[in-house]
Amino acid sequence: MTAPWLRDDNHLPEALRGLRLPLVGSPLFIISGPELVIAQCKAGIVGSFPALNAREAEGEPPLLEAWLTQITEALDRHNQANPDRPAAPFAVNQIVHRSNARLDRDLEICARHKVPIWITSLGARVEVNEAAHSCGGIVLHDIINNTFARKAIDKGADGLIAVAAGAGGHAGQQSPFALIREIRDWFDGPLLLSGAIATGQALLAARALGADFGYMGSPFIACAEANAQPGYKDMIVSSGAEDIVTSSLFTGVSGNYLKPSIAAAGLDADNLPSADASTMNFSSGSSKPKAWKEIWGAGQGIGAVRDLTDVPTLVARIEREYLTAGRGLSGEFAG
Ligand SMILES: Cc1cc2nc3c(=O)[nH]c(=O)nc-3n(C[C@H](O)[C@H](O)[C@H](O)COP(=O)(O)O)c2cc1C
Repeated sequence: MTAPWLRDDNHLPEALRGLRLPLVGSPLFIISGPELVIAQCKAGIVGSFPALNAREAEGEPPLLEAWLTQITEALDRHNQANPDRPAAPFAVNQIVHRSNARLDRDLEICARHKVPIWITSLGARVEVNEAAHSCGGIVLHDIINNTFARKAIDKGADGLIAVAAGAGGHAGQQSPFALIREIRDWFDGPLLLSGAIATGQALLAARALGADFGYMGSPFIACAEANAQPGYKDMIVSSGAEDIVTSSLFTGVSGNYLKPSIAAAGLDADNLPSADASTMNFSSGSSKPKAWKEIWGAGQGIGAVRDLTDVPTLVARIEREYLTAGRGLSGEFAG
């Protein structure tokens, strides 16, 4: 049976149509690389990675080139072998922050490789949107409130990722109910919702609110294809919403982290001081390597992650839950 979703995506840009599920695997610093992205796209959802994850040694050719070639070739091979269930397109995340010294180089590489979906974070800039559009790509910009949402669209982004409270990494503070409502008052383009979406029921709720897609990160950390240490994967499985701490200490902006990893680094997770945004620095990919290597990010949805798994199994679970929940509710409204 055709998924209910597939009948109603004509208003979206071509790159976002015809997917198995209305879901994007969000970019995860350090964790997302070609293996995870290829598995996500083959499973029928958009896979993504931060360009800054592709880091070559001094004097080596750009690793980003090699990753883009590897992903494109793997997806082409999959599509030739499986014309009836083609892979979803992939996305590359650009951190548009003044301290990201690689930005211009990475934009040029992505434009040359015709990256279909560009995800921009921490700054909306006209030139970045123009670079994406020059190669036929679309830009989804992530925002935490309605003011930033309007700025992003004014500067030429095609769609928005609303990062609500409870998201892993740099989270917003607003309820998804409030945030999606305010944006949908004036914006009818592609809208994704980020924050603690870890089940098909949550994905359906995102659609009910008015989002076109869910944007899911933390559950992928526990997947075999993710580049995360075994202890990190285990902590995702064993933790729940109460184990998530919000702090600006580690990167200069508010983010959500696993409490046991803060304790393991010798800090008192219940009494963390705050830091100011001027300490943010992406010149070597992160403000402080420790922030992501030792202090582990995760969103509040991880209570739904009960075992170490792999991408095909996780996406199949989300799909099952999504369809079952949707059919259950539509029964209530029928007749
Ligand atoms: C460990 C970790 C690293 C992240 N790194 C990035 C990043 O490099 N760029 C980005 O735009 N978002 C990043 N995010 C945020 C995610 O893209 C997304 O908003 C979030 O994971 C969604 O919430 P969820 O984890 O509850 O699903 C990160 C999140 C986590 C948990």
